[in-house]
Amino acid sequence: MAASPESGKKVAIITGGSRGIGYGIAECLGADGYALAVLDINSLSDYAENFASLEKAGVDFLYAQGSITEKNDRESFLAKVLERYGRVDVLVNNAGVAPKVRLDLLDMTEESFDYVVGTNLKGTMFMTQLVVKQMLGQELRGGAQGGKRGVVINITSSSVNVSSPNRAEYCMSKAGLAILTQVYADRLAADRIFVYEIRPGVIDTDMTRVVHEKYSKLIEAGTFPIARWGEPRDIGLAVSAFCNDKFLYTTGNYIDVDGGFHIKRL
Ligand SMILES: NC(=O)c1ccc[n+]([C@@H]2O[C@H](COP(=O)([O-])OP(=O)(O)OC[C@H]3O[C@@H](n4cnc5c(N)ncnc54)[C@H](O)[C@@H]3O)[C@@H](O)[C@H]2O)c1
Repeated sequence: MAASPESGKKVAIITGGSRGIGYGIAECLGADGYALAVLDINSLSDYAENFASLEKAGVDFLYAQGSITEKNDRESFLAKVLERYGRVDVLVNNAGVAPKVRLDLLDMTEESFDYVVGTNLKGTMFMTQLVVKQMLGQELRGGAQGGKRGVVINITSSSVNVSSPNRAEYCMSKAGLAILTQVYADRLAADRIFVYEIRPGVIDTDMTRVVHEKYSKLIEAGTFPIARWGEPRDIGLAVSAFCNDKFLYTTGNYIDVDGGFHIKRL
């Protein structure tokens, strides 16, 4: 399954890609012909059926167990990716956590704040810093409009600007990622590294299992103009769109992939 650096295949890193939205992104980018590199705290055997299915589809991938919050894990992961593939074209910052217990804002613990903000915001900040330094040293690919050195896509949430007082640390971490997207986009535009943000609404994954019944009732009640659960593939297709060469005068932008939930209604 190894692709030599000379093979010319584009390479995408997906954090938290073993299941859920991250795996949906892996399926879509794999189908687009990317070689994939996944960093996840789960072991490969935890979601063996997902990777068997990628293998069956002929997708070239590298899997490493580790955390975006650990400097050593980030660095050894990138070293493995470079050893195997020689470059990184796309970084999808998808790994994220919800609070272990949903508590009212007035009862939020410092431990929960540190866990959620430390993973979602700090982990993503330093994962991005490491990978874009690698991208900066790479040659431009594709001639269109000056070509690209890389693409970074941050998976945030409708929670960037929808208040949930019982998981405020999550909202704060995702709002932080919205400005992180813009400052990285600003800093890297001249180097032709493009940075985007995708805000999923309610997507059917392990993360939403605890609130499945509540959200199903909201869908039935018409809260979401497109009245169905979002699927990981919905996010994967949006990532795929940002990775193609059709947004070469666009950076620092976000797109809601939320069934129209963001629309203010009377
Ligand atoms: N499911 C939704 O409705 C929804 C909505 C908006 C945003 N999101 C965001 O989408 C992303 C994926 O969520 P999901 O719904 O697929 O949840 P999930 O819990 O199924 O998947 C998250 C993945 O990230 C991995 N992960 C967690 N911490 C990590 C770490 N420190 N280092 C490396 N990997 C780590 C997990 O092991 C898991 O594989 C998250 O950032 C989440 O906040 C989800």
